[in-house]
This record gives sequence, C-alpha cells and structure tokens, in this order.
Amino acid sequence: MTAKEQLLFVCSSCGYESRKWLGRCLDCGEWDSLKQQKKQKIRVGRTVAEVHPLAGEGGDELVRLVTGISELDRVLGGGIVPGSMVLIGGDPGIGKSTLILQLLAALAGQEHKVLYVTGEESVAQIRMRADRLAVKSKHIYLATENSVQAIIGLADEVKPAFLAVDSIQTMYSEEVGSAPGSVTQVRESTSLLVTLAKSTGLPLILVGHVTKDGAIAGPRVLEHMVDTVLYFEGDRGQVFRVLRTVKNRFGSTNEIGVFEMKESGLAEVDNPSALFLAERPVNVPGSVVMPSVEGTRPILVEVQALVSPSSLGTARRTAIGADPQRLALLTAVLEKKIGVTLFDHDIFLNIVGGIRIDEPALDLGVIVALLSSLYEKVVDPTTVVCGEVGLAGEIRGVGQMEMRLREAQRLGFKTFLMPESSKRQLEAGSSLGIQIHSVRTVHDVVECLFVE
Ligand code: TYD
Ligand code: MG
Repeated sequence: MTAKEQLLFVCSSCGYESRKWLGRCLDCGEWDSLKQQKKQKIRVGRTVAEVHPLAGEGGDELVRLVTGISELDRVLGGGIVPGSMVLIGGDPGIGKSTLILQLLAALAGQEHKVLYVTGEESVAQIRMRADRLAVKSKHIYLATENSVQAIIGLADEVKPAFLAVDSIQTMYSEEVGSAPGSVTQVRESTSLLVTLAKSTGLPLILVGHVTKDGAIAGPRVLEHMVDTVLYFEGDRGQVFRVLRTVKNRFGSTNEIGVFEMKESGLAEVDNPSALFLAERPVNVPGSVVMPSVEGTRPILVEVQALVSPSSLGTARRTAIGADPQRLALLTAVLEKKIGVTLFDHDIFLNIVGGIRIDEPALDLGVIVALLSSLYEKVVDPTTVVCGEVGLAGEIRGVGQMEMRLREAQRLGFKTFLMPESSKRQLEAGSSLGIQIHSVRTVHDVVECLFVE
C-alpha cells in the first residue's frame, strides 16, 4: 500500500470521506472543512472474536434491568438490556440530565452501583440538582470527565452496573486530534463507548444534543452505532415532556412515555389523555378531539385550528405538533373538494400540550378543526374523530380502531366519527356504548358535522 492510498480526508461538519483534499465538502457544502486523517490499517490474521452457535445454551440470559419508572421502561422495551447503548437526544433545557439522574436514582434504589460521568456540569451543580430531586444514595458515583479513555478506566475501577455519559458532544478521545463536539470526535468517542458496552456487558446511556433542524448534533452515524435512540421532546414553556423511541433493537419504536416537569423533577403521567384534555375549551369552534395511537398506547389529543381572513399578501400557514406539509395538502383537498376558499386565510394548527402527532389518522381531526373554525360551528364536545384523508377527498381506514375506541369510551366520549372501512372491520358489538358514525368522503364529514 502506498503512502498516498492511506490518506483520508474527513469533513468535520458532516463526516463525508474523501481520498483527496477538497476546498468544499461535496456532501454538506461546507468550505474548508475537510481535514486529513490517517486511515487505519486493517489487521488480518489475528482474530480475537469468538464464534458461537446461534442455537444453544445461554441464549436466554438477556435479563433486563428494570428501572421501575414505568414510562421509561416502556420506551426502552421493558427495561435496559445488558451491554446495550442508549442515546437520548433533545433540546437543551428539556430535562435530559434530570431524567438521567432520576433513572440513576431508581437503579441505585435497587442497590445497583451506578456511575454518572458529566462533561457539562460541575459536581456541585449536579449535587444541587440532586438536592432538588431529593436524590441521595451512596450507590451513585459522580465524575466530571471529558476523556473517553479516562471514562473507560473509571468504569473498570468503579465497576458500575450502569453508566451514564452526559453529553457525547463534550467527550473526546485522546487518539483523535480534533475538538470535542466535532464529527470525528463524536463518532470516535461513541465507538469506544460501544466497544466498552459490548465487551463488558455494561449498559450505557449517552446524552446527545439536538441541532436546530432536529437531528442529534454530530453525525447521523451516531444513531446507527447505538442500540436505542430516544428523543425527549416538548415545549419548554409547557410542563409536558414526551420521551419517544425512534429506534430500538430490543423493542418496538414509536413508543412514548409521558412526563410532567415539576418543581422536584419529572413525574410520570399515567393517564396522558386526561391531562392533554384537561384545559380543553368547550363549545368553542376550531377544536376537536382525536384518539391517537403512539406505539402500543392510545392517547386522546385536542386538535385546534384557527382560520381567519389574512391581512397580508400571502396567507400564513403554521402547524405546531403536526406536519406542515400535511396541513398544506389537507387545505388543498378542502379547497378542491368542498369548494371552500382558504388561500386568503391565515391557518394555524396546534396539537395542544406540546405533543407531536405524525400518524395519518390525524388528518380527519385536522380537517374537522379547520372547517369548524372556518364555519364558526362548534363540534359536539363529546365527539372524537379519526381517519386518514386521501387526495381525492376519500376518508381512508386506519388501524387499531378498537384501542382508540376503548380509550375514548374510558374518557366518557359518546360519538366516534370514523372511516367507513374501519367501521366494517370493527367486530360487531364492540362499539362499547359509543355511537359510531362512518364517513367515506370529506363531503360526508361536512354533512355529518356541519349541516343541520
Ligand atoms: P435539565 O435536565 O438540566 O435539561 P437538559 O439536560 O436537557 O439540558 O433541565 C433543565 C430544566 O428543567 C431547567 O430549566 C429547570 C427545569 N427543572 C425543573 O423544572 N424541575 C426540576 O426538578 C429540575 C431538576 C429541573
Ligand atoms: Mg444537561
């Protein structure tokens, strides 16, 4: 191999790799971001890996570490898997460090020795937070450290049952020249920690910051390297926090855990529907309730819309907690199929409580809220609506109708507006005392709700 072949240039902004130096990264377009890196030689012939038969003894050893915080255990797929690596991302100030400390306290409460390494705060700051959370346990060990090599040494010394690293952007590997937080560092540090987890069976949680556009800062590869990716979301002005599984090698995705940020830390919310609907205005146009299913759990949310004539040249479209593209699409469907004029109206859509809903079943809630606000007609407050809306104005079936129905019934709703195909799939007699109205098109929706 010639010396030239061993040269590798890596973009410090996105991780793009090139054999030759470039003034501008071909991938992310950043200028002067390619830095030379020695390509590591691959050693062949000396193998340390063991080979195991797929079937056989020892396959059932995966005993999960159950934290006892059930909202957290659920998103993890039933607890922490030995040797697994969890990444938790979220905006600054959302409560990641608080959640980590509470997680550690829960494990320490079961007499597990846990280690918390932070590169962000001083021990005094963490003690202050611990006081606030009333966490005091001799099983929690604290260290402020930025070097991954030192952390690995520390883990070897302390031999904890669980390790938390806050945050990956402040860590660096002594073997890489670039600054902490750079793509190369984040990747290298994570990879060292993954090796630590896999080789010793020590489960690990990493905190990662989130950039403005919502990705975990640093390379996307970070998400591929770890077993589980959780996002901690919510409106900082609001008290609700939603912990969402984005990826999980040991459980299902889309699971959510709901918390409330209180004076003394995060409290579990085991009845999120009731909380999200707590302040719902009754008999006000532009509001409707939609039974959503996140992972394995139904949650009722309030969909609010405000449609008002625009005083500006271009009408505004804002969606909070829902996809703005989807809102644009549904607006177009209404204009085309019902003939309402919306292009000269400002449209604001909000899913109340700071929760985000991505499933298409939200569509029907959106159009009902929009029409209710536009027509200034109140939707009966004991009605829930749920269904996908197609481009032809058809209302399409959605899954898990029974679960949605049960949750609506539990919270005392009386009427359910759903796609006709979903109604057909419901087992006879499963309506649970709720009156079911089925719709096939957006026309049916207008007739059913807004025509006397
Ligand atoms: P923190 O966990 O430091 O956020 P992150 O690590 O994601 O940056 O939490 C920060 C916010 O949470 C801060 O604004 C204060 C608030 N908070 C409470 O409301 N109650 C509490 O008990 C704690 C510890 C924090
Ligand atoms: Mg923090």
